[in-house]
Amino acid sequence: MLKELEIADIIIDKLANASHIVVLTGAGVSAESGVKTFRDPDGIWAKFNPQELASIDGFMSNPKLVWDWYQERRAIVDSVLPNTGHLALAELERIVPKFSIYTQNVDKLHQRAGSQNVQELHGNIIENKCFDCNEPYFDNIEKDTLPKCKKCGGRIRPNVVWFGEMLPEQVLRNAERDASHCDFFITIGTSGEVYPAAGLPELAVRNGAFALEINANKTNISRLHQANIFAPSGLALPVIVELLKNKTR
Ligand code: OAD
Ligand code: ZN
Repeated sequence: MLKELEIADIIIDKLANASHIVVLTGAGVSAESGVKTFRDPDGIWAKFNPQELASIDGFMSNPKLVWDWYQERRAIVDSVLPNTGHLALAELERIVPKFSIYTQNVDKLHQRAGSQNVQELHGNIIENKCFDCNEPYFDNIEKDTLPKCKKCGGRIRPNVVWFGEMLPEQVLRNAERDASHCDFFITIGTSGEVYPAAGLPELAVRNGAFALEINANKTNISRLHQANIFAPSGLALPVIVELLKNKTR
């Protein structure tokens, strides 16, 4: 496996000496599990309109359409498994001193892979909450019904961040704090198109971190990283973890 991919020595050296590693992940890390990304040629936004399906206005004007779509995505997420990239990140967490993942993904695959310190920048599609009062909603969502909040009667929605909405305040604060204090930052499988998440690598670099990007393709934020591995994360991450273990053993 090691022969398939050359990883520069400097990456492993820096990782071995890092005391605080922060990871930002995007849809690409789940691609090898069978969850579609958003902006790749076969991605979700090539086929669907984000304003209709992932915005407050979209939900207001056609909640049933939005619910049907989220239920479909839930079924996909339920039916897939964490991939070798997710598993390698969970292992990395176990062998380094301080580690956190900030994910834009709503699929909980990092948690299912065993990662402990995962914070969700865009919420998740497993949970639901009230549109009006934010009260969590635990009942199953039945097909063709629009659930109502038991506390205030408001409409129930998936617990995700839609276009135009703020990110969960505390999670964003933690992300900005960790990005500016870490000494090694890894950006994985994100196009870097959606802010504020896409601003985290730059924040890390400005504050002195070494930044590595792992992506199947070049992105708009590739250049601000000191190192890039242009390969699928499910291939690159296990190799990195193996090399790191060999070095520190
Ligand atoms: P995108 O779809 O914008 O980008 C996915 C990235 O993953 C691209 O840069 C691909 O090159 C890369 N990629 C694809 N397969 C990969 C693989 N196997 N290994 C590594 N990289 C791979 O997804 P995000 O950047 O996550 O927001 O999108 C950010 C946000 O935009 C999402 O959280 C979502 C979306 O609209 C909301 O829903 C609020
Ligand atoms: Zn409510």
